[in-house]
Amino acid sequence: MPLMTTKPMFDLAYDGGFAIGAFNVNNMEITQGIIEACASEQAPLILQISKGARAYANMAYLRALINCAVSEHPELPIAIHLDHGDTVDLVNTCIEDGFTSVMIDGSHHPYDENVSLTKAAVDAAHAKGVVVEAELGMLGGIEEDVVGLDAEEYEKNVEKFLTDPEEAKDFQDKTGVDSLAVAIGTSHGAYKFTTEAKLAFDRIEAIMKTAPGLPLVMHGSSSVPAEFIDAINKYTVVDNSNAELVKKFAELGNEWQQMPKSMGVPEDQINMAVGKYGVCKVNIDTDLRLALTAAALEVWGKCNVNVLEWINGGRKGKQPEFMFDPRKWLGPGRSAIVDMVKRKLHVLNVAGKAPAVIEQWKKLGEPLPDYYKQAACCG
Ligand code: G3H
Ligand code: 13P
Ligand code: ZN
Repeated sequence: MPLMTTKPMFDLAYDGGFAIGAFNVNNMEITQGIIEACASEQAPLILQISKGARAYANMAYLRALINCAVSEHPELPIAIHLDHGDTVDLVNTCIEDGFTSVMIDGSHHPYDENVSLTKAAVDAAHAKGVVVEAELGMLGGIEEDVVGLDAEEYEKNVEKFLTDPEEAKDFQDKTGVDSLAVAIGTSHGAYKFTTEAKLAFDRIEAIMKTAPGLPLVMHGSSSVPAEFIDAINKYTVVDNSNAELVKKFAELGNEWQQMPKSMGVPEDQINMAVGKYGVCKVNIDTDLRLALTAAALEVWGKCNVNVLEWINGGRKGKQPEFMFDPRKWLGPGRSAIVDMVKRKLHVLNVAGKAPAVIEQWKKLGEPLPDYYKQAACCG
């Protein structure tokens, strides 16, 4: 049962020219899509769960889904990770829930508070065989339960928010953290940059010099592909009962956009960060959300077109089906997740790395976190 911490993964990734994809899970379709893609590409993976995901889905349900994935795919190295944990209490709860890795994000606190919060989380987690990721520096963009900076302010002043290499070394020494999320010019969410992002490769290099061997993590690494924003805008239907909205929509015509165009982190730059530097983990959430939503909306959009054709054709034959069966749009949403995750696995050079990670895990003889020693459930 290769549920493991991220250590065997990062041991190989640090100078192996690849990184592990950390994908956010919120429901069954997303989990299944990620697992199907990683199984077909034989890629190790990190399933990460935010505080928001815990509240939305109920951890017991997510846990059961992950248990199924683990028992269906014993060949896949899988870590379960808390994304953006904000308190030691939450870290402890996740350890009890069987997470093998946790993030404590004190990046928005003053430096000394970030150190003491992270140290407390490291002490709690290491005592139970769980590894810890922390964050230093500030990212742009804001999501539901994640503190960040206003995207525009970040883009204008990105340099001053980047991780300080000397501080990274001091932080590593004082906290004993296992991996570090660094601010190197990425940003959370769907509204990242108005111009093409440029990752601060010199900063990654400098951190690798001051803190050698420390696995680095890139948050906010979605690429926000324009075709998904276009699809979401194309198929977002105006509420016809809202006269004011219909009028405004007609006035604005093609200029009107539900989702503004935005540029994400270019995939070639991500590929460079993982291929040439010690970036071991790359977080992707937004691109999965966009892919699923665009695919689902496309189903509804096509349904409308078919109905219109049927009406214009004199209503002959069977009326086209309305998509009130959720499987009809969640299914294509799940397939879109499979495609998106496969695409990311190639950007991260991680396809085919599962067997080597399993070997490394066996070599380390890594004891499983305490939870698995007690639980009879989680084969
Ligand atoms: O970086 C944060 C993740 O995208 C999680 O977002 O808090 O809305 O689940 P969430
Ligand atoms: P994106 O919003 O760019 O997908 O980043 C996700 C993330 O960093 C989760 O922690
Ligand atoms: Zn993040």
